[in-house]
Amino acid sequence: MIETETSSLLNDSVFMKACRCEPTDYTPIWLMRQAGRYMKEYRKIREKVPFLDLCQNAQLAAEVMITAVERIGVDAAIIFSDILLILQPMGMDLEYVKGEGPILNNPIRTADQIRNLREVEPDESLSFVFDVVRETRAMLQPNIPLIGFAGAPFTVASYMIEGGSSRNYENTKTLMYSEPSAWRDLMSLISLATTKYLNGQVKAGAQALQLFDSWVGCLSPSDYREFVLPYTKSVIDTIVDGTPLIHFGTGTAMLLELMKEAGGQVIGLDFRVELNQAWDRLGQIAVQGNLDPCVLYADYPGIEKRAKQVLDQTEGRNGHIFNLGHGILPTMSVDKVVALVDYVHNQSSKS
Ligand code: CP3
Repeated sequence: MIETETSSLLNDSVFMKACRCEPTDYTPIWLMRQAGRYMKEYRKIREKVPFLDLCQNAQLAAEVMITAVERIGVDAAIIFSDILLILQPMGMDLEYVKGEGPILNNPIRTADQIRNLREVEPDESLSFVFDVVRETRAMLQPNIPLIGFAGAPFTVASYMIEGGSSRNYENTKTLMYSEPSAWRDLMSLISLATTKYLNGQVKAGAQALQLFDSWVGCLSPSDYREFVLPYTKSVIDTIVDGTPLIHFGTGTAMLLELMKEAGGQVIGLDFRVELNQAWDRLGQIAVQGNLDPCVLYADYPGIEKRAKQVLDQTEGRNGHIFNLGHGILPTMSVDKVVALVDYVHNQSSKS
């Protein structure tokens, strides 16, 4: 339980105010993948510690995130973890292969395989993630909110079925279209686990949550409504009251209204939409985004110009959390990331 003084510092932070669409003295900013290979401190730790071990070492995972937060000066931290950790207790064989990303060695393609998956009890099998939350919260500055996270059901299902990243999601869509009842069983199993997992992170000390539906943009609006929305909604509807949730996806230009319907206090925008147009469509709700991460490859005036465009597109509305439209890439420059954070703070500062 967090002490009252700390809890009001957190509650009154720019990030939490923006989640609630309240006015802020400046625009809060944090960046997806703010702790990772673009930082030499991270690469040094990874020379010695495999990624999955790092995720299970609360002390080190907290240190990795806090080092990043302090180095770049952002207004929120996210726990150091991964959306795929929830798959191991279901019975999936998860591996991170250097240069290739995550691989599931036993992809799920049939109704029988789905029946054999285990229900997840996060208090038992994922308690190490709750330890990461507790440790990060304890070590983090008392005015910086901590974001917990999970993959949304569709994105998690796509990894389970494809066995890794995918271009066309052919196996996922085959199952979805040809065995809808197996699809529903799978999505229900993931949704139940995700609800417990996110609420467990809140109980362990997270102030806000982000649901990553990173790959949902491969679906049409009607398929989203039929095969995804009810499950994502069931997760978001059962989050402990008062915890803001950021609902993020990429390639979602045609899905934004449906994502809002599925839920979340904040809608995460990728860089393929104009922020002002997307916000006009969404109406009264907070938004997060949406600078193209590759702008960080530009020179400094180019970065500032495009960051200003994003800030200007808010058109003075309350409830904007500055972020990239997707994560920082390993080849990006830490100095440019720091310059972006400083620029957003200064440019948006009203005092
Ligand atoms: O600062 C942070 O945001 C760190 C916490 C974090 C990680 N993964 C650490 C990580 C978060 C929020 C994630 C979420 C995640 N993981 C998503 C959703 C976000 C998105 O990018 O859309 C997805 C799709 C994954 C699955 C995943 N994990 C992939 C595709 C990869 C390989 C690609 C890559 O960037 O290496 C990972 C590995 C991963 N997750 C790393 C980190 C720091 C790199 C591991 C390493 O080699 O050190």
